[in-house]
Amino acid sequence: MAKRKSRISLRSGSEVDGLREAGRFAADVLNSACDAVRSGVTTGEIDQIAARAIAKLGCKSAFLGYRSYPGNICISVNEEVVHGIGGTRVLKDGDIVKIDVGVSTPKGWIGDNAKSVAVGELSSSAESLLAATEASLYAAIAAARQGVLLSVVCSAVEGFVSPRGYSVVREFVGHGVGRKLHEEPQVPNYWEVDSMRARGFANPRLEAGMVLAIEPMVNAGGPEICILDDQWTVITRDQSLSAHFEHTVLITDQEAEILTPRERSFTAPAA
Ligand code: MF3
Ligand code: CO
Repeated sequence: MAKRKSRISLRSGSEVDGLREAGRFAADVLNSACDAVRSGVTTGEIDQIAARAIAKLGCKSAFLGYRSYPGNICISVNEEVVHGIGGTRVLKDGDIVKIDVGVSTPKGWIGDNAKSVAVGELSSSAESLLAATEASLYAAIAAARQGVLLSVVCSAVEGFVSPRGYSVVREFVGHGVGRKLHEEPQVPNYWEVDSMRARGFANPRLEAGMVLAIEPMVNAGGPEICILDDQWTVITRDQSLSAHFEHTVLITDQEAEILTPRERSFTAPAA
């Protein structure tokens, strides 16, 4: 098969500065939104808190209006995997809330990041899922450097979570980020040669200057998902709990630089 010329942008200089700023803003807004998560708050209120934080930074939501997406951020609860829309749902103790924030700066650069948090106490089974999902993100980031095949990064996610009995969502993937929210390449959280070929996923070697959003979506039960009638909210078909963590990272000839810096939520589970 003829190799298509890669259209993956390589960022340098002021472009990287612009992406760093966008990433920092996205991380700040994610933190503010997560700080607002508590029992009795509605998901719509969290969306509004994030909208105000984005506006205060002089930025715009990178999600609002994207393919007609109606929210400022994504808020997905429990069996909801990703793309939940803030509304009248009232959060309660024990809920697991996934918040995903993308911002676009006045200079036109985008930062995209997500994490999963608990309302009140975490059950030990939920904590294990969240800790493994976050650790799978860091495992993928640790693998991501110049010269490495993209498939190695993608496989790192599934390689981390599947021995622990969790499964990786296949229908949704990470992506390149730049002036657009979704750029090449697609960054799945697994790699199977045949299915990737069928879906037209490229497997380039990473180069310094590539900017990727890596975003494991990991289910406690099976990998299958459904989409709700709102056309957006993705849920696990078996209604099992799902977790999501995301960073935007810059590939270098050393360790990847996390452009959306935040504290780690969990200590890495033992190998
Ligand atoms: N982080 C997700 C993604 O990059 C969020 C997109 S929500 C959407 O796909 F509304 F913008 F689609
Ligand atoms: Co993303």
